[in-house]
Amino acid sequence: MTATEPAPSEADSERHFERYFEDVIARDQRIEPRDWLPEAYRKTMIRQIAQHAHSEIIGMQPEGNWITRAPSLRRKAILLAKVQDEAGHGLYLYSAAETLGGDRDDLTEKLISGRQKYSSIFNYPTLSFADVGVIGWLVDGAAICNQVPLCRSSYGPYARAMIRICKEESFHQRQGYELLMTMMTGTEAQREMVQDAVNRYWWPSLMMFGPPDDDSPNTAQSMAWKIKRHTNDELRQRFVDMTVPQAEALGVTLPDPDLSWNADRGHYDFGAIDWDELKQVISGGGPCNTERVERRRAAHEDGAWVREAAAAHARKQQQRKEVAA
Ligand SMILES: [Fe+2]
Ligand SMILES: [Fe+2]
Repeated sequence: MTATEPAPSEADSERHFERYFEDVIARDQRIEPRDWLPEAYRKTMIRQIAQHAHSEIIGMQPEGNWITRAPSLRRKAILLAKVQDEAGHGLYLYSAAETLGGDRDDLTEKLISGRQKYSSIFNYPTLSFADVGVIGWLVDGAAICNQVPLCRSSYGPYARAMIRICKEESFHQRQGYELLMTMMTGTEAQREMVQDAVNRYWWPSLMMFGPPDDDSPNTAQSMAWKIKRHTNDELRQRFVDMTVPQAEALGVTLPDPDLSWNADRGHYDFGAIDWDELKQVISGGGPCNTERVERRRAAHEDGAWVREAAAAHARKQQQRKEVAA
C-alpha cells in the first residue's frame, strides 16, 4: 500500500480474511489457532471437540467398573493402561478446545449440568468381564472408523491430536479382540458371556455413528468445512463391512437376521436401527445416563482442592517472577 492509497476498511479486511480461510479449506491445508475463522466454525469446532473430550472422560467409567475385578494381573494391567489412555485423550482434546477459546471449566460445567452431550454408547452398563472385550472390539473399533478421517480434519490442533489418539485406539481394539479370542477358546460359559455381550453392544455400536444422513442437519456444513470427511451412514457401513468377518473369525453371531453380503453393492446389508432408542439415550433416558453424569460431578467436586492448590501454586510462581524482575 502506498501513502496515497486509502486504508482498507474493516469490511475489506474481513473479506480478505474470509477469502484466506476459504482458500486454506479448498487447498486442504489446516486452520491454525491464530488464523481468522468464522464464528460459526469456531463454535461448531469447540462443540465437537468438547463432545469428543467428554466422551473420552465419561468412557472411562463403564470399563473402570471392572479394574478391581479383572480376572488376572495381566488383564488388570491392560485395562488400567487402556482407561488411562482415555483420560489422556480427554486432556489433549480439552487442550485443543482451549486453542479456540473454549474454557475448560465452562465445558466441564456444561457436561455435568447436562447441557453438552457425550457419546450415547457410554450410557449402557457393563455386566460382565466380556463387556471389556466387546467394548474394545466394537466400541473402540467404531471410534477408529469415526476418528481416522478426523486426522485430516481442517482444524490443525484437532487433526494432530487425533493421530496419536487413533494409534492408541488401535491398541484398545486389539486388546479387546484378543481378550474375546481367549474367552472363545475357553469354557462354554465364557463363550456364552461373549455372545451375550455382543448381543447387548452390537446395535448401540451402530448408533455411535449418529442419526441417519437424512436426519443429520449439520452434516452438510461440517463436510463443507472439512471438519467431517464422510457421512454417518458411510462410516456406519464401513464399520459393518469391517466387523462381520471379524465376528466370523471369532465365532460369534451378530444379532441381526438381516445381515447379509450384497454382491451388487459390494457391502453388507443390515437391519433397521432403532432410532427411537438412540433419541431416548441421547436425551438422557438411557440405562446409565444419570449414574454417569452424577459420578462425573462427584469426581469434579472431589477434585476441587487440587484445582485450588494448582491455582495457588501458579499465583505464587507468578509473584516470585514479578519480584525477581
Ligand atoms: Fe479414546
Ligand atoms: Fe479407546
